[in-house]
Amino acid sequence: MFKKLLVAVFGIGIAFGAAASIADNHADMGGCESCHADGEPSQDMVHELQQCHDCHGELADMGEPHVHHDGMLECTDCHAPHDQEAATDAEAACESCH
Ligand code: HEC
Ligand code: HEC
Ligand code: HEC
Ligand code: HEC
Repeated sequence: MFKKLLVAVFGIGIAFGAAASIADNHADMGGCESCHADGEPSQDMVHELQQCHDCHGELADMGEPHVHHDGMLECTDCHAPHDQEAATDAEAACESCH
């Protein structure tokens, strides 16, 4: 937990490059291990999703468009860490439900 906080604090000032995926940008900060236990994807992604919350908090506290989906959606319903390069790419997901 302490290591994660440290990574998050040091990461705040880093501007993410435009060409790499969200996952690669995270891996540059803390390795694949920052999301995957031992760097290996799990079967159910429960561990991975818990890591998102440990660093970013809860949807209820994250502002638009997050707040509307607290208790309903997972981060990966909108963000595909390996297939998207920026947070705003998640806008493409809206129309699949709304
Ligand atoms: C920001 C968190 C994050 C980081 C860092 C990350 N991943 Fe992932 N990874 C995910 C999530 C979430 C998924 C499942 C959803 C998806 O496929 O986008 C995933 C899926 C995968 C899969 C596919 C697993 C499957 O069953 O389809 C592989 C392989 C993988 N990651 C490898 C890596 C490697 C290697 C690294 C380091 C270079 C890495 N990941 C870094 C979050 C991350
Ligand atoms: C309903 C779809 C949706 C869900 C679910 C979602 N996001 Fe987002 N997120 C977005 C969109 C769209 C943006 C871009 C907002 C903007 O800047 O205009 C964004 C922006 C962000 C940003 C950058 C801006 C900021 O608010 O700091 C981060 C970090 C982020 N999301 C993390 C997460 C995490 C972590 C989760 C899960 C706990 C999550 N998101 C769940 C759609 C979503
Ligand atoms: C070890 C801490 C950590 C973990 C785990 C983590 N993040 Fe992040 N994430 C950060 C930091 C630090 C940044 C860069 C500063 C910021 O934008 O908040 C970031 C940035 C982001 C961004 C914004 C990318 C952009 O366009 O600037 C998104 C989206 C995001 N994370 C989603 C996720 C999701 C989804 C997960 C889980 C699969 C996750 N994060 C796991 C620390 C983490
Ligand atoms: C996986 C399905 C899913 C995705 C993707 C999704 N939403 Fe939602 N959204 C819901 C559900 C379920 C609710 C709560 C029920 C409802 O009010 O429709 C909701 C509620 C909302 C609300 C509250 C107001 C309302 O319509 O009731 C807003 C605003 C909203 N979403 C915007 C967005 C935006 C913007 C995006 C894309 C960044 C997005 N949603 C992506 C499922 C989704």
